[in-house]
Amino acid sequence: DKCYVNNFRRGFIKANGVVMPVYFKKFGQRILDMDIRDDDIWVCSYPKSGTTWTQEMTWCIANDLDFEGAKQDVLERFPYLEHSPLFHYEKLMQENPDLKLPLYVTDSIKFINELKSPRFIKSHLPYKLLPTKLRDRSTKAKIIYVARNAKDTCLSYFHHCRLLEGYTGNFEDFCKLFTSDSLCLSPYFDNVLGYWNQRDDSRLLFLKYEEMKQDLRAVIRRTAKFLGKDLLDDQVLVLEDHLSFESMKKNRAVNFESVLEFNKTHNITNVDGSVMSSGTVGRGKQKMSPEFVKIFDEWEETSLRNSGLKFCY
Ligand code: A3P
Repeated sequence: DKCYVNNFRRGFIKANGVVMPVYFKKFGQRILDMDIRDDDIWVCSYPKSGTTWTQEMTWCIANDLDFEGAKQDVLERFPYLEHSPLFHYEKLMQENPDLKLPLYVTDSIKFINELKSPRFIKSHLPYKLLPTKLRDRSTKAKIIYVARNAKDTCLSYFHHCRLLEGYTGNFEDFCKLFTSDSLCLSPYFDNVLGYWNQRDDSRLLFLKYEEMKQDLRAVIRRTAKFLGKDLLDDQVLVLEDHLSFESMKKNRAVNFESVLEFNKTHNITNVDGSVMSSGTVGRGKQKMSPEFVKIFDEWEETSLRNSGLKFCY
C-alpha cells in the first residue's frame, strides 16, 4: 500500500472535549494567547457548512468587490487558523527536504500574526477554543458564523474525508462517526450552539447555509450591513453571480483544485472529485437510510431543544 499521510483519523486527541489532531497540543495555547485586532474579520463554522462560500462573500464585501484581488488563493488572503495543526506535513517534509511549503501551511498562526490589517481569518474551532481576546469582548473584531443542517454537513464531510483524508469506509459508517461526535472538530452541535449562544453579541453575525441557498441576496445585504458597507442593487447582483455554485466551482482561487493536485503529486490522497460536490440542501437526507434519518432527527431535536435554533430544509 502507498503511505497516505492523512490516513483517516490517525492520531486524534480530545482538547477541552473537542476532537483535534495530536499536533493541536503544540498550537492550542498559542491560539488562546493570540493578539486580536479591532479590524479582524473572522469566519467560523463546523467543517463543511459552507465556510469557503461565506469567506468569499465576506472578503468581497469587505474589499469593495475587488474581484481582481479575489484571484489570490483564498488560503492566502483568508488563511485557516488550524491549517498547521490539522494538516501535518512534517512527515512529507522529512521525506522531501527540498519541498518548499508556504508559511500558512507550516505555521498558520505565525502567518496570521504577521498579516497586515485588516486580517481575514477562518476557523473551525468551537467558540470556547478561540483566542481569549476574541471572546472577552475587549476588541471590536467581528465574527461571522455559518451553520448548516447536520445531515447535509455529514454528507459533505463524508465526501471531504474520502477526497482529502483517506477515508475508505461507506456513508453508513461515516454517519455513525458523525453522530457519535468522533470526527475531527466534533461535537457538531456544541460547535453550532457555542456560537448561537453568543448571537446577542453585536460583533457576531450568525448565518445559515440554507438561508444562503434560499435568498443569497438577502444574506449579502445582511452581511454588508454587519460589515458597515453599502452595496448598490447592481453590486449585489454582480456579487451574487460571483458567488454562484457554478462560478465558484470553476474558480481556482476558491475550489481547492490546487490542494487536490498537490495531494496527488505527493501521495497524500488520490481520489478524484471536487470539494464542491453538490452545493444543495436536502441531499444528506436522501442519501441516508431511514434508520439514520431517524437518528439524526432525534439527535437534532434533543440537541436544539430550548435553544431557539431551528434548521429549515
Ligand atoms: P457539498 O459537499 O454539499 O457540495 P466548506 O467550505 O465549509 O468546506 O463547505 C463545503 C460545502 O459548501 C460543499 O457542500 C460545497 O459544495 C458548498 N459550497 C461551496 N460554495 C458554494 C456555493 N457557491 N453555493 C452553494 N454551495 C457551496
